[in-house]
Amino acid sequence: MAQLNPNLRDGFGSKLGVIAAAAGSAVGLGNIWRFPYVVGQNGGGAFLLVYLLFILVIGVPVMLSEFVVGRRSQRNALGAFKKLAPGTYWHVIGIMGIGAAFFILSFYTTVSGWTLEYLVFSLSSSFEGKDKEELNVMFEQFRMSGLKPLIYQMIFMFFTAFIVFKGVKNGIEKYTKLLMPALLLIIVVLCVRAVTLPGAGQGLVFLFKPDFMKITGDVVLQALGQAFFSLSIGMGALITYGSYINSENNLSNSAFSVTLTDTLVAVLAGVAIFPAVFAFGIQPEAGPGLVFITLPMIFEQMAGGYFFSLIFFLLLVIAALTSTISVLEVVVAYVSEELGMNRKKATVLSAISISVLGIFCTLSQGPMPEIHIGNRNLFDILEFVSANIMLPLGGLLIVLFVGWYMKKDEVFDEISNKNKLKVRFKWLYLYIIKFVAPVAIALVFLNGLGFFGAFSN
Ligand code: PFF
Repeated sequence: MAQLNPNLRDGFGSKLGVIAAAAGSAVGLGNIWRFPYVVGQNGGGAFLLVYLLFILVIGVPVMLSEFVVGRRSQRNALGAFKKLAPGTYWHVIGIMGIGAAFFILSFYTTVSGWTLEYLVFSLSSSFEGKDKEELNVMFEQFRMSGLKPLIYQMIFMFFTAFIVFKGVKNGIEKYTKLLMPALLLIIVVLCVRAVTLPGAGQGLVFLFKPDFMKITGDVVLQALGQAFFSLSIGMGALITYGSYINSENNLSNSAFSVTLTDTLVAVLAGVAIFPAVFAFGIQPEAGPGLVFITLPMIFEQMAGGYFFSLIFFLLLVIAALTSTISVLEVVVAYVSEELGMNRKKATVLSAISISVLGIFCTLSQGPMPEIHIGNRNLFDILEFVSANIMLPLGGLLIVLFVGWYMKKDEVFDEISNKNKLKVRFKWLYLYIIKFVAPVAIALVFLNGLGFFGAFSN
């Protein structure tokens, strides 16, 4: 397609496009695969309450800060800091963000590959007649088989790169606008099915009734970590997307809408999963296998199971895809803008180099467990380092940057679109990013490093 002005930066074409893309990034395996089992392991309702509090008090301000840095600078995650703070070391945030993108995409595409395989399993009725033990073996055999998970991972990476390759407006925005409504529809259908199962009430009680005795130091910090990962904050994905937002957009509204969508989907995923888990007499603490072992077992026994398993794994694939494109975009935007390569070349190069690490990651989960440090394999190490160290540290530095380095007027100018919008809570926002958020994030970070081991259950 002819470009009118080659110097014009690609960007989102509409308000809805901004929300679809950013909510697409936020809503992912973190909501549907990770959130339910983390809730299950951390006591249900009490965890949910703390999580919601963090989302509101810390998640929204951090997300808004990323949008501010992105739109103000009109650059990628690293270039943004070079432009706003020339001659300083702040661009280290960007370097770390690009590193985190490499790490996250490596292990995330491993799990995304599994979701694709499970979609194929669902299509071919592979769960039929299998009990829990057999489903367990099925999952293990697939994981250990070496080549198959790699092929699925590469197919997934190909889809991701295909969309990023097409650009911001004609790729990311176009596809997320198409996929996100489908995702929302599927999750609502699954919720309706789940709450109408006999015995569903117990699952809803587990999810919504807080038992304050269960709130320990560890639960609080886990909730904050989950909030970071789920909202895609702390590594510059939303700085990059923020740089594609036009000057008319109300950044705080966008941050609220994205956060609301992400939270809604996480809660709906809980509503879809826990009633089913309880209705079939399964322990909610099943862990990461919840989605790949427990749910197929439930689908197997439920009326209409074929259809529901199909749309459930489709939901996972869509959720994962709209997230992986945002992670790849961080690297592609950097390579194309800072290293002066065109987008298409930058996409191919980035996808191939990330895939190399991704391949080892998948193999470490299966036939090559020898790729490990201590008792963690490569997959676990990358997940641990990115989610528990890089995201909280990145988030901490981003709020410090906006709260303490950027000028107050500059920040207010950005969130109010040069005083065109009345932003009532701007002082509250400033107070949170200067004081509240940095302290809270520092706690998550220290937890990630095991400083609060004493509080763990
Ligand atoms: N928010 C995504 C999820 O919940 O699955 C994961 C993620 C995407 C994390 C993009 C970080 C990121 F930059």
